[in-house]
Amino acid sequence: MTILVFADIVGRIGREALAQILPKWKTEFTPTLTLANIENLAHGGGITPHTVAKLIELGVDVMTGGNHMWDNPAYMEVFANKDLAGHIVRPLNDVGVKPGVGALELEKDGRRFTILNVMGQTFFKNAYPSPFDALDQALTKADPDSIILLDVHAETTSEKALISRYADGRVSAVWGSHTHVPTADERILPGGTAFMTDVGLTGAHNESIGIEYEKALTLVKDGVKTHLAPPYSGPAEVNAALLFFKSGNRLPASIKRLREIVTVLPN
Ligand SMILES: [Fe+2]
Ligand SMILES: [Fe+2]
Repeated sequence: MTILVFADIVGRIGREALAQILPKWKTEFTPTLTLANIENLAHGGGITPHTVAKLIELGVDVMTGGNHMWDNPAYMEVFANKDLAGHIVRPLNDVGVKPGVGALELEKDGRRFTILNVMGQTFFKNAYPSPFDALDQALTKADPDSIILLDVHAETTSEKALISRYADGRVSAVWGSHTHVPTADERILPGGTAFMTDVGLTGAHNESIGIEYEKALTLVKDGVKTHLAPPYSGPAEVNAALLFFKSGNRLPASIKRLREIVTVLPN
């Protein structure tokens, strides 16, 4: 049994790159479950009904979130639609007025899955409560026989590493999202949990972590704020992690990094 994990899908170019590669990987790896992080799904920030529906149509089963998930007010329409919201997990410790659930349980092909998502605390504008405590609380309620999957949406590699070791043996896999650059450290931890610090974006390849280079440069070099957004077309990278489970096992046998570069044409 395999599970295919994508991190941040960034903008139209990311969605179209995913559409080019996902059917091929589905044929090759026949994943029971496919996951993706959608915080940058719509034009680089937030989610809309159209873009979430597109990922469901492509065969993404569960979508996780992050700090940018709320950038576009259209998230309210997404969460008001049960057919869309039923596929989404928002960070457990992003509490307050945010809609949605922080843990999602589902059954597919005779296996039970629990999908969790937490925010890290370092270098974010918002002060999120402890992801360690949020995880502990969620695990007291989660089905212990299910395959438990955790997306850690965090800025620093060290925080992701600490959360992964804290969860080691208690969940099946921990991977990072948010930093958009894939790390080459995929491995099975001592307690049997698969881990990769960041799976990396699916989006523009030669830009600034998926955002149009010239616009990012204007902000960083000249201090002039422009509308930061991904390009619509051009070279794109598709990054993922593939988890392998031996029959009936809760903990994975291995984790493999996947990466392809494609070209997304203009509309
Ligand atoms: Fe992101
Ligand atoms: Fe983020």
